[in-house]
Amino acid sequence: MEKIVVGFNNEKGLIRPELHGQFIEFLGSCIYNGLWVGETSRIPNYDGLRTDVVDALKELAPPVIRWPGGCYADTYHWRYGIGKREERPVTYNENFRTYEIDSNQFGTHEFMKFCRMVGAKPWLNINMLSGSIMEMRDWMEYCNRRESTSLAKEREANGSKEPFSVEYWGIGNEVWGGGGMMTAEAYAMEYRKYASAFPSFATIENAFAAHPLMKRIACGPDGNKPKERRAWTKDFFKEMAKYRHPAVDAYDLHFYNWNIKDSGMNELKFDEDGWCEVIRESLELEEVIQEQYALIQEGLAGYPAVEGFLIEPEVRCELVVGEWGNWHGAAFSNRPALYQQCTMRDAITTALTLDIFHRNSHLVGMACVAQTVNVLNSLFLTCGDKCVRTPNYDVFLMYKVHQGGKALTLERAHKSEPGDLFAFASKKTEVISLNLVNTDMKSVKEAELDFGTDVVFLKAEVLAGDSPDAYNSFEQPDRIRKKEAKKPERNGAIYKLTVPAASISLYQFRIG
Ligand code: AHR
Repeated sequence: MEKIVVGFNNEKGLIRPELHGQFIEFLGSCIYNGLWVGETSRIPNYDGLRTDVVDALKELAPPVIRWPGGCYADTYHWRYGIGKREERPVTYNENFRTYEIDSNQFGTHEFMKFCRMVGAKPWLNINMLSGSIMEMRDWMEYCNRRESTSLAKEREANGSKEPFSVEYWGIGNEVWGGGGMMTAEAYAMEYRKYASAFPSFATIENAFAAHPLMKRIACGPDGNKPKERRAWTKDFFKEMAKYRHPAVDAYDLHFYNWNIKDSGMNELKFDEDGWCEVIRESLELEEVIQEQYALIQEGLAGYPAVEGFLIEPEVRCELVVGEWGNWHGAAFSNRPALYQQCTMRDAITTALTLDIFHRNSHLVGMACVAQTVNVLNSLFLTCGDKCVRTPNYDVFLMYKVHQGGKALTLERAHKSEPGDLFAFASKKTEVISLNLVNTDMKSVKEAELDFGTDVVFLKAEVLAGDSPDAYNSFEQPDRIRKKEAKKPERNGAIYKLTVPAASISLYQFRIG
């Protein structure tokens, strides 16, 4: 029996909804067929966007969506994706063996429409590899300029008089790898130029506003390479600390949970070791976040004081995780590119990763799962007119209750290891939402929740498959779906409950 003492007077950071962000790019069938089918398709769609995916995403209301990449951003020319669709240039995508034509039917306006429909803020990643500062500025002007410039008029002619007001702009993608194989110093030099060229979109009335519309997101390290990631962050900020520097509003760390030891169908077939290993490695992200946050603070502390009459602005930089998820070896050989099934094991690591973000919400401000449809740790898999929601979708749906809440401290007898019960709780107004992730593949677990005061049970939900390697297929699309769970037994301030093996549960209580 696990005893968990809920310290609900001990509130930690605010859980920013942006921690539940999504990431889409033209890779495999994420965009084409997965999201975009075109207006004339026999597959039901809203102006070309799949109805099934859009409707299900509306329910999740993802706070932010990152596009066009990823690696694809490094060669993406935004101009190819605007104007009459039948006249758009046709390009070719070789990334991760996609090997497909890009008809550019899904471009800036289609992305903005998609974001609006599902209630998300857009995060655009600019092309720093094969693009230019001018190209970046033009895209910003096109998206955000209210005044009647040629680019704003072109946007209007293409269907949007209102600016898109894009706030988040990524400057480069994985520049240590496919995005240019740069050194941190070389990237810092490029970053200085790109970040300084951002238009302010200020007006006479708000010329000195403390919070400019657009956030500059710098490329953070490869979270999977311990030595390199530490060196990258130290070197980047050391370089930025030399002389004057543009703002680094956010710093984008990428972390994939690699499972590439076994080849073949390793996303579907695993034993207990394979189960525990993927879980164990997903947990590493917590240390990476803490380490990177500390290194950012160290780096900022090294910034020189401003000389002269200018008032030194407050220096802040938020850590964000622009890409995360399980990456099984099978994804390399599966077609379409990077397609992988998501079993209960993936749902468990999705839940544990969101728990890490929630628990460290004072350190990390935004995160995007890679990727929403048909690629890696996806929420949807599509094939023709069929669409299944993976169990990851249900995890996001269940965890929505944590958005905007405050993380609570839980007292436990020991730290959880793979095979144990993991717990997280948040408080919003007077409601406590507590989730339990049972990472034991075979056994149910019993737990006692001690609130130390009067709380009233509100609801319980559980997500579990008929086996740990269960998944939702086109033949059995709802094999794993969240369900109502049994009401826990109450004894004063203590609630007793049992959770199934390999499961994720959510309990809600009202204080008083
Ligand atoms: O999400 C798949 C790819 O992984 C992205 O394009 C790239 O940024 C990362 O290496």
